Amino acid sequence: MKNNKYIKTMRKLFFLAIICSLAIASCGKKVPASVPATIKDGMIELKTPPRAPGQQSALGMACDPIDTVRIAFVGVGGRGASAVKRYTQIDGVRIMAFCDLKQDRLDLCQGYLKDAGLPEADNYLGETAYKELCDRDDIDLVYIATDWLDHVPISVYALEHGHHVACEVPAAMTIDECWQLVDACEKNRRHMMMLENCCYDFFEMSALNMAQQGLFGEVYHVEGAYIHFLSEGWDRSETWRLDYNMENRGDNYPTHGLGPICQVLNIHRGDKMDYLVAMDTPSYNGKASAKKFRDKDYCKDGDHTISLIQTEKKKLIEVQHNVYAYRPYTRMYQLTGTEGFANKYPEEGISVKDLNGHLYVPQEVMDSLLTAYRPEFAKAIEEKAKTVGGHGGMDYIMDYRLIYCLRHGLPLDEDVYDAAEWSAVQELSRISLENGSMPVRFPDFTRGDWNVTDGFRYAL
Ligand SMILES: NC(=O)c1ccc[n+]([C@@H]2O[C@H](COP(=O)([O-])OP(=O)(O)OC[C@H]3O[C@@H](n4cnc5c(N)ncnc54)[C@H](O)[C@@H]3O)[C@@H](O)[C@H]2O)c1
Repeated sequence: MKNNKYIKTMRKLFFLAIICSLAIASCGKKVPASVPATIKDGMIELKTPPRAPGQQSALGMACDPIDTVRIAFVGVGGRGASAVKRYTQIDGVRIMAFCDLKQDRLDLCQGYLKDAGLPEADNYLGETAYKELCDRDDIDLVYIATDWLDHVPISVYALEHGHHVACEVPAAMTIDECWQLVDACEKNRRHMMMLENCCYDFFEMSALNMAQQGLFGEVYHVEGAYIHFLSEGWDRSETWRLDYNMENRGDNYPTHGLGPICQVLNIHRGDKMDYLVAMDTPSYNGKASAKKFRDKDYCKDGDHTISLIQTEKKKLIEVQHNVYAYRPYTRMYQLTGTEGFANKYPEEGISVKDLNGHLYVPQEVMDSLLTAYRPEFAKAIEEKAKTVGGHGGMDYIMDYRLIYCLRHGLPLDEDVYDAAEWSAVQELSRISLENGSMPVRFPDFTRGDWNVTDGFRYAL
């Protein structure tokens, strides 16, 4: 069943590539992209689809408060089931339904409810069972944690049926899919949050606040990454990920690195990503995994991919991807400003001009800075977050913020434009790589409103 899905997607991408190649035939260059593309002044530009009549921006969108948020989970494999377990410990929610391809995953989640003394949820089994689930009118939030290719079809169906959506990362795999999410949100006036949990890690939240309070001066260079040795486990888990990586060159998982640094740079809240240039290495260990687990001789994803992004305000973003290297986990997370510097991996460090700027401040000074600048809401739930867990507590903080905002009728911390911008790096990096690292202009998913909002803020 899953193979059919990949074949269908690859066939669709193939036809899109032909259409787009024809569309730009006059340029004499081949730019296969999921939306029409042209080359202008040495840069690849993707066409922005017009906003449908009557459809309005969803920037800062607030919806009616929901007293008890009724949630349905679609995709309760590794990640989805751990979310269900966390949600049994969150106030103000009711778990209504589970949907998966496998009965044992549904049973596991029912077990979590039983252990927590909560009522049984309804089960939906099968690849299109999410439609039946979304057709219900007693669900507020559809929480999606399937493999990547299902994120957008399920998100759009849920939005079209009046539900808010929270979806795992990346929210979308192509620019066309990014636009589908933006349009479905704007049209149906429902929230779509991509569950970028790394924005809620303790160091990142404190460093964001320090940057906002000016401790680092003007932040002009930021780095993020997803460097995580995954390939040994591909006979056991996330096997769809290997299939995807074998067929797709580019940064296939950009959002963990990008999310927290884009918040620092106020992307679509005063600045925007302007263009991207990508480079990669050949596939070494990826190719070995393809041979070992799939008996194939290719992997299109290079072992290491680097994308450089220039913002409208001429700031620099660097994002890296490598899931094949024998090296310790890192999301980089580096901020460089005119008056200071923050670094999370491999060792946490902060330096500021007023405290001997060319060295990190002593550990105890850093600890007190990190505590002092932690947002108040995070301080209030820190202990519980660390007890419930989920990547050291950041998953729980993300859940808490999502439910808090829905219950209070507030705009969400991460909106659909974040989901689109951060996910877009996948296809944009692929396009750049397949065209000799040519720069690719970032689509403006706000359709001109990127400078309307004054900086990133948590709604409280
Ligand atoms: N934010 C994080 O830290 C983090 C960590 C791990 C995974 N993820 C993301 O979570 C998602 C899931 O990853 P995972 O490791 O749990 O994968 P997984 O393969 O363990 O789980 C996916 C589940 O989705 C189900 N599924 C697939 N298609 C479905 C459909 N049409 N309807 C209902 N169920 C369907 C599968 O049966 C499976 O149980 C991915 O998007 C991944 O990138 C995020």
